[in-house]
Amino acid sequence: MKEVRVGICGLGTVGGGTYNVLTRNAELIAGRAGSPIRISRVASRRRRDDIDLGDIPFSNDIFEVTRADDVDIVVELIGGYDVARELVLAAIENGKHVVTANKALIAVHGNEIFEAAAKQGVIVAYEAGVAGGIPVIKAIREGMAGNRIDWIAGIINGTGNYILTEMRAGRAFDEVLKEAQAKGYAEADPTFDVEGIDAAHKLTILASAGFGVPLQFERAYTEGISRITPYDIAHAELLGYRIKHLGIARRRENGIELRVHPTLVPQSHLIAQVDGVLNAVLVDGDAVGQTMYYGPGAGDEATASAVIADIVDVARSVAAESRQRVPYLGFEPDALENLEV
Ligand code: HSE
Repeated sequence: MKEVRVGICGLGTVGGGTYNVLTRNAELIAGRAGSPIRISRVASRRRRDDIDLGDIPFSNDIFEVTRADDVDIVVELIGGYDVARELVLAAIENGKHVVTANKALIAVHGNEIFEAAAKQGVIVAYEAGVAGGIPVIKAIREGMAGNRIDWIAGIINGTGNYILTEMRAGRAFDEVLKEAQAKGYAEADPTFDVEGIDAAHKLTILASAGFGVPLQFERAYTEGISRITPYDIAHAELLGYRIKHLGIARRRENGIELRVHPTLVPQSHLIAQVDGVLNAVLVDGDAVGQTMYYGPGAGDEATASAVIADIVDVARSVAAESRQRVPYLGFEPDALENLEV
């Protein structure tokens, strides 16, 4: 059975979570991937004392992973725009598949990256970039493949939702933001969370998946929650509304509208009930109607869950020696022959 070799770049919150879950659930994951997944290399600026890498080679040079012969899939978890772009393009150039959780990278450089990947015949997967552990890109791209999607709207920044939730309970903005940072929810630069930039990155990606358009981050209207006061929150509640920070993408006659801003949502709406670090994404399809995807939007193992789903997806193609995605059917194909009905 062909083993699939994974090189992890970045050992921060998500990198650590991915390492831990891949190791802990190795057998289960191998069953779903159809082959063992071996972490063949780890690279990061700093080694972590709380993670036992055993005899897995570790390097401070993340680019080493993109060149290594014993890596089939480069897992980019360093975050940021520029170095991540160089890293991913180098990996693609060297014929490696890429799995990334980096929404900033995909929203801003995705068009260039996808073009490079198509030329090289490799896969770039980025489910973990949007809404943490919720498999919403797969749901839109695969589950709703028969629909014309007219709009997508949701809470897509866990840190912002956590802050708004706690402010409703009377806590101060700065104190809650610090807590979100300590819990590993916030971005390295938390202004991305509180000024709506992170949500705009994710909305850009959702719109591209839903409407089949190129990524157009620069066109998104972006407003954050940093100017929301306790008075605004209390006043909205008094009027029967809740302030939620939403990303909204809508098909319009002259193109796709992308906007991210605080929104008054009726308290009775499902989305108003989504509290804490949870995310929820509503998708409207002409065939299915409204669907809602809900779950943890940030955090080490929640995000690792989506990273690993992508690794499994890509691993199936690697094992099948195919440049195409090989769907997971939930059973081995020849098991059908043994089915008794
Ligand atoms: N900072 C992001 C958030 C992390 O809070 O949603 C997950 O993308």
